[in-house]
Amino acid sequence: MINDLWYKNAVIYCLSVRTFMDADGDGIGDFAGLERRLDYLQGLGVTAVWLMPFQPSPKRDGGYDIADYYGVDPDYGSLGDFVAFTHAAKQRGLRVLIDLVVNHTSDRHRWFQSARADPDSPYRDWYVWSTEKPANADEGMVFPGVQETTWTWDDKAGAYYFHRFFDFQPDLNTANPAVQAEILKIMGFWIELGVSGFRMDAVPFVIAKKGADVKGAPVEQFDMLRDFREFLQWRKGDAIILAEANILPKQDLDYFGDDADRAHMMFNFQVNQATFYALAAHDARPLVKAIERTKPRPLSCQWGIFLRNHDELDLGRLTETQRATVFEKFGPEKGMQLYDRGIRRRFAPMLDGDPRRIRLAYSLMFTLPGTPVLRYGDEIGMGDDLGLKERDCARTPMQWTGEAQGGFTRSAKPAMPVIDHGPYGYAHVNVADQRHDKDSLLTWFSSVIRMRKEAPEIGWGDVTALPTGKAAVLALRYDWRSNAVLCVHNLGPGPVEVELETGIDPSEGGLLIDLLTGERSEADEAGRHCLFLEGYGYHWFRVGGLDALLRRTPT
Ligand code: GLC
Repeated sequence: MINDLWYKNAVIYCLSVRTFMDADGDGIGDFAGLERRLDYLQGLGVTAVWLMPFQPSPKRDGGYDIADYYGVDPDYGSLGDFVAFTHAAKQRGLRVLIDLVVNHTSDRHRWFQSARADPDSPYRDWYVWSTEKPANADEGMVFPGVQETTWTWDDKAGAYYFHRFFDFQPDLNTANPAVQAEILKIMGFWIELGVSGFRMDAVPFVIAKKGADVKGAPVEQFDMLRDFREFLQWRKGDAIILAEANILPKQDLDYFGDDADRAHMMFNFQVNQATFYALAAHDARPLVKAIERTKPRPLSCQWGIFLRNHDELDLGRLTETQRATVFEKFGPEKGMQLYDRGIRRRFAPMLDGDPRRIRLAYSLMFTLPGTPVLRYGDEIGMGDDLGLKERDCARTPMQWTGEAQGGFTRSAKPAMPVIDHGPYGYAHVNVADQRHDKDSLLTWFSSVIRMRKEAPEIGWGDVTALPTGKAAVLALRYDWRSNAVLCVHNLGPGPVEVELETGIDPSEGGLLIDLLTGERSEADEAGRHCLFLEGYGYHWFRVGGLDALLRRTPT
C-alpha cells in the first residue's frame, strides 16, 4: 500500500484560474483556458495542480471570501467546465487539489445575510457573535496595518461578529455541529467532481475555539481535523488534506496526528523561512536546525516544501536579526515589505533575476525533505508589479508568449495587469521563447523535475545532514530502501572544496554519480570524497552508482 501514497513523491503546481489562461477573451482566466494548458503542465512534469479558490465570490481577498461553496464563479466558467477540466487532468495523469476555505465565508454569503438579519435564523449560530465589544477585539489581526480589529459591529445584527481576517470575512462557528456537517458536505461535493484533496486554508484558526470569552493561547480542537480526514478517506481513499498551518515544530505531531490520522500534508513554514535566511546569509546552519526540528513525522505524512506562494513571504518565525538580514537582501525597500513581517515580491526579482542563484535556490527546494510545491510563473522567472496593492503585486497573469498581453488573453483589458515593461515584461520573460532555448530556466525546470521524480529517496527517505566544515555548504543524505541520494548545495558566491564522508561503507557507497551531469566522484581510501563546488553550485548524487535505484529491494 505504501507505493500508493502519491503525495509522497509528487510535484505540485499551484495556480489561480483567474490569471492563468483566458480562453473566451473577456480578460479573465477561465477553466477552458486552463484545460488548454494541461499539456504544458504535463510536459513540465508536475504531477498535481492546486487551484486557488474559484467559487462565486466578491473577490475582495483574492477569492478567499467565498459566497457559495457549491459553484464556480461565472468569471471562470460553469460547473460543467470544471468537470471537463478535472476529467482532462485525469486523462493526463494529473491530480487536482483545490482550496478549502472554511474558516470564514464572505459577508455576502446567504448564510451570513440570514444570520445577521434575524436572531432566530437557523444560521445565526453559524457565526460568532457578541453583544458587548470583547476585550480582545484589538488583538490577533492577521493583516496588521490593513485590518484594524477582529470584532466588528453589525447594525443589522445588533451585535459584534468575529473575523480573524478582514471584516468582510466573518468567521464560521466551526464548533457548531451543523457547520461541521456542512464542511463535510462541501468536501464530499468536490470529491465527487474529481478532486484528489484539499489545501485547507488557515487550519489553526478553523479548529481553534472561537468566541468573546476565549482568552490566551489558542485552544485547538484536533478531533475536528481527524473527523475531516476520516470522512475524506471514507469517501475517497487516496484523497488528502494539505494543511496551511504556520505553527511551531512542537505542534507538528498534533497536526499530523501521532497515528497519522489528521493532516496528510502541511506546508513547512519553518524550513521555508530558514531557507530564505540561508540564501540571504550564505549560512546553511539554521536551515539544518529547521530540518532537524521538523523531522519527526509519521511515515505516511509529508511536508509541502515551497519558496514562494500567493501570500507575502512570512518571516515571522525568524529572529529579529535574521529577519533584518532577509529584508536587507531580498526586500530592502518599504514598498517591498508587507504587514511588518514579510516580503511581497516574486522570487526572481528578489534574486535580481540572477540565473545562478535562482537555480541554486530551486535545486535546494527540490531536494529538501518533502514534496515540492511550485508557484505558476516561477518556472520562467516571472517578476512582480509593485504598483499593485498588497499581495496583488505577485499575482499578475501568466506570461505565455511575447505577443500582446503575454498571450494570456485576446482582450486589451485584462482583469489583472500583465507585466509589460522592464526586464520581467512578457517580451523578455515568456514560455514560448524559453521553450525553444535549451539553456532557459524553463528547460532547466523540466529536467530538474524529471530528476526529482526519479529520486523518490528525497520524498520518502530518512534525511541526515552531513558535516561539511563550511557554513555555506549544505549536504543532505537521504536513505530509503537500501539506497541513498546525496544533495550538496553551496549557498555562497565563491567556489569551495569540501571533504565529505557519506557515512556509507565505501564498498557500497564509494562511488557518487551526479544525477544532473553524470560526473563521478570516487572516495579515497579513508572513504572521503573531495568535492568541488562553484559559487552557488550544486550536485545531486546517487550513492553507489546510477542503477542503484533499479536494484532496490522490493517492498
Ligand atoms: C490564507 C490564504 C490567504 C487568505 C487567508 C484568508 O492565509 O493563503 O491568501 O487571505 O487565508 O482566507
